[in-house]
Amino acid sequence: MRIYGSLLGVSALRLEEMIRRAERAGIDGFHLDISDGCFAPSLSFGPWMATDVASVTKRPVQAHLMVVKPRRYFGQLAGVETIYFHVEASDDPEGDIRAVKSMGAMAGVALLPETVIERLKGIIRLIDSVLLLTVRPGYSGQAMLEGSGERIREALKLREEHGFSLVVDGGVEPSRAGILRGVDAVVSGSYVFGGYEPERRIAELKGALGD
Ligand code: DX5
Ligand code: ZN
Repeated sequence: MRIYGSLLGVSALRLEEMIRRAERAGIDGFHLDISDGCFAPSLSFGPWMATDVASVTKRPVQAHLMVVKPRRYFGQLAGVETIYFHVEASDDPEGDIRAVKSMGAMAGVALLPETVIERLKGIIRLIDSVLLLTVRPGYSGQAMLEGSGERIREALKLREEHGFSLVVDGGVEPSRAGILRGVDAVVSGSYVFGGYEPERRIAELKGALGD
């Protein structure tokens, strides 16, 4: 199971240090949470941040757009492996998927915790990856929501049929390893970077997830 480190809660002054230390500790990639204060209540940073991070690491970078009308920002993302936009924020999910693919990136669709998995049905054949949010959008450091295990199992069933990569985002920590079994990747912010001890935290998370 791959681990992507979310840099949302990392001080801007320590970003490069945390990227390097996480790389040395064997992180699989980085996850950049771009929120606009509208779709998600927090205002984080612009798409340039994902482009910047991608330019200084060889590990894959994911951009998680928590913004309204996400297509406006695709052109500002360069060198990014996967672009996730929220199906709830898109007027034209199929057009957005095609726009992402035409840039040479993988197309990812993100789902808020309250959005039913069936919402993916019409577009599932076009999607490379599904990002399942297991906390409210916009902030690091929240506990995984009740009912996440059931949602993960439902998404895993859909994956069997369609073969996308399933990524879980929010409240990931070693004690959740049981309900995360079978997913392709997890995103972790506060567990991996909280306390600025990525070496120890990454090793513990990898151990628990059985990697
Ligand atoms: C929430 C974000 C997450 C967040 C994860 O909006 O999508 O990527 O940074 O942080 P933790 O792991 O602390 O829940
Ligand atoms: Zn995220």
